Amino acid sequence: MKPQTETNPLTNLDEWEDDLLRRYPDPESIADQKAVTEYRNYETPQRDTVREFYKLNHTYQTYDFVLEKRNNFLRFDKKEMPIWAAFDFLNQLVDDSDPDTDLDQMQHLLQTSEAIRRDGHPDWMVLVGLIHDMGKVLCLFGEPQWAVVGDTFPVGCAHSDKIVFPEFFDANPDHHNERYNTKYGIYEPNCGLRNVHMSWGHDEYVYHMMKDHLPESGLYMLRYHSFYAQHREHAYEHLMDEHDAKMFEWVKLFNPYDLYSKNPTPPDWKELRPYYESLVTKYLPATLKF
Ligand SMILES: [Fe+2]
Ligand SMILES: [Fe+2]
Repeated sequence: MKPQTETNPLTNLDEWEDDLLRRYPDPESIADQKAVTEYRNYETPQRDTVREFYKLNHTYQTYDFVLEKRNNFLRFDKKEMPIWAAFDFLNQLVDDSDPDTDLDQMQHLLQTSEAIRRDGHPDWMVLVGLIHDMGKVLCLFGEPQWAVVGDTFPVGCAHSDKIVFPEFFDANPDHHNERYNTKYGIYEPNCGLRNVHMSWGHDEYVYHMMKDHLPESGLYMLRYHSFYAQHREHAYEHLMDEHDAKMFEWVKLFNPYDLYSKNPTPPDWKELRPYYESLVTKYLPATLKF
């Protein structure tokens, strides 16, 4: 067995998201070269755990690994529960050893959804805010952090140097496999992202969980919300088709709500609950399969 820090270097999952804020501090503009350089020089102990995290993620997320995880988790045969039980389950992710974790997972979800609601977006998008990180329950099924969170990227083709810590891909066997390490790899030019396998994590998992229940624009938000190499860096346009390009406008609309809605004031769940209960009833079945 590997030691715990080797599989789960982050003290808690929020460290990855805090790091995203360092990389993309400005909701209005794409990170420019200067911002990227500053971020790369940013050295703190927390930064080291994020580095260690990406080292594992980039080393082990191979094409075969992704197929194996899809084959296991997309059966949805692990657990069945109402969404409210799933939120309680998700909140077990709060790390007791870290006194700085001010907000639990449910609060991040509610702050995201409430920010979307305040801006008058359609109710299905509010629901997307509420459930977008539900896939993090994978951690509670014993999955290592690097197979649950982190920036996602296509597998089966070359790793872009626009992906965070691109140097760590050198340890990934696919990086040296000529089947997978060319620009298009196993894919056709502009084949559409629906034909492309992404690195495995909470985005792809929750997309499949929700795919019969939400409009396509919402499904794109769920499926690609951690695909920063595309929605912020535009590194994979050669795999996208026109339909993806249109749909990514929705992904971009969603991203600031995920990144910049964190707030020290916890939402008043008692007051909000009736609204969310009827929203969930409108779109989702009584229980969800995990
Ligand atoms: Fe997420
Ligand atoms: Fe999130």
